[in-house]
This record gives sequence, structure tokens and C-alpha cells, in this order.
Amino acid sequence: MTKLFRYNYFLVKKMLKHNPNRGIAQNSKRYNTFSARKLLSETVRPNNSGMPMKTLVVYYTRTGNSKFAAETISAELGADIEEIVDLKNRQGKLEFLRGGRDAGRAKETLIAQTKRTPADYDLIIVAQPIWNRSPTPAIRTYLTKNDFSGKKLALFFSDSFLGLDQAIEKTKTLMSNSVFLSEFAMSVKSFKNKEEAKKKIVEWCDTLKKA
Ligand SMILES: Cc1cc2nc3c(=O)[nH]c(=O)nc-3n(C[C@H](O)[C@H](O)[C@H](O)COP(=O)(O)O)c2cc1C
Repeated sequence: MTKLFRYNYFLVKKMLKHNPNRGIAQNSKRYNTFSARKLLSETVRPNNSGMPMKTLVVYYTRTGNSKFAAETISAELGADIEEIVDLKNRQGKLEFLRGGRDAGRAKETLIAQTKRTPADYDLIIVAQPIWNRSPTPAIRTYLTKNDFSGKKLALFFSDSFLGLDQAIEKTKTLMSNSVFLSEFAMSVKSFKNKEEAKKKIVEWCDTLKKA
């Protein structure tokens, strides 16, 4: 039994012991052991080594759609979340054009210091808009800077129906040696109705839980 599992196991057993609703039949070591195991298996999704599956959602956004998606995914999967901040100004018409040009030319950019370490996670979910049929410079920079070997990977794109396949392929090549699970894309229009948008994202999360 791994250290973390043993610790969780201890906590759950302690919780059960202090449950005032516990019946006499339940007041036995065997029952508590069984209940602790059951509760753990219901609350923690294990990875291959029996440890809980740790998930990180990484996102870049310019107008908020990918942020909404990332926050929904994080809440649904109980995942940590990290925003990738592009230190270049990307607002305004000229910067819009420059952003598209930089993305199409596979340019990197300056990004703010990140807080999380991908090495600590089993599954990495990357959420971003498509820019010029490509990943954004901020996400490109982040993915180039980090090693994702052996990590499970899922991709979310907010888009306008143009160049999804290219954006997926280009992003995947930045995470070589990762294990690709699935991708999901939603158009700008889909984000107008937040309730509907949330529903679709949660449905995708359900497929990730089973992966
Ligand atoms: C510079 C730039 C380039 C874009 N290029 C594409 C594109 O090639 N294909 C596409 O479908 N949408 C494209 N879009 C639209 C965005 O992907 C879409 O508006 C997205 O929902 C924005 O997400 P955000 O709110 O997270 O920034 C582009 C937007 C910008 C700003």
C-alpha cells in the first residue's frame, strides 16, 4: 500500500469512527476497514500505481471563453488550475492581427511565472482558443518549457470553426511522449448560453473520468 493511500485510508477510518450515526453492527474493525475501502474507491480515482489521479487544467484566454471552460473542467474534475498569462499586450485590432501572425508562425512569447509543476500531475488538460489554426503563443511557450513525457493529455479549444484539426496536431507535437486521451472544441456562439455551455463541458468531463 502506498504512503498516500495509507494516509487517506487512516483519515477515512477516523471519519467513520467519529460518525455518530454508526450502528452497533458497524462498530467493528472489519466493518470500518470495509467502509474505508469502499469510501476511498468512491471518492478517489486512482492512477496506475494506486495513487489518486492528479489533474491540472492549464489555460490561456484573451476574451474569457477558455477561462470559463477551464474553470468548469477544474470544478467538475476537482483539478488544480493554472492560467498562462501572455506578457505581450494582445488587446486591440493591431495586436489581434499580430497575435494571429505570431501563432501562425509558431512564435513563442513571454509568459508570467507559473505556480504549478506539471511533473506533479497524471493528467494535463490544456484549454485555449485557436489562433490562426494554431495554438496560442502563450500555450506554445508553456508547453515548450515543460516536459509532459508519460502524462495523460486532453485538449479543449474555443474557436470559430476554422482549423481545429491543424490546431490539435500542432498542440500535440508540443507534448511529445504524452498519452493523448481526447479533444473537445466549442464555438464562440456556444459560450453565449452559459448553462448550455457548462452542460456540454461537463459531458466531456464525464468521458475523461472514464478514460
Ligand atoms: C488572433 C486570433 C486568431 C484567431 N484565429 C482563429 C482561427 O484560426 N480559427 C478559429 O476558429 N477561430 C479563431 N479565432 C477566434 C477564437 O478562437 C475565438 O474567439 C475563441 O473563442 C476565443 O477564446 P478566448 O475567449 O478564450 O480568448 C481567433 C481569434 C484571435 C484573437
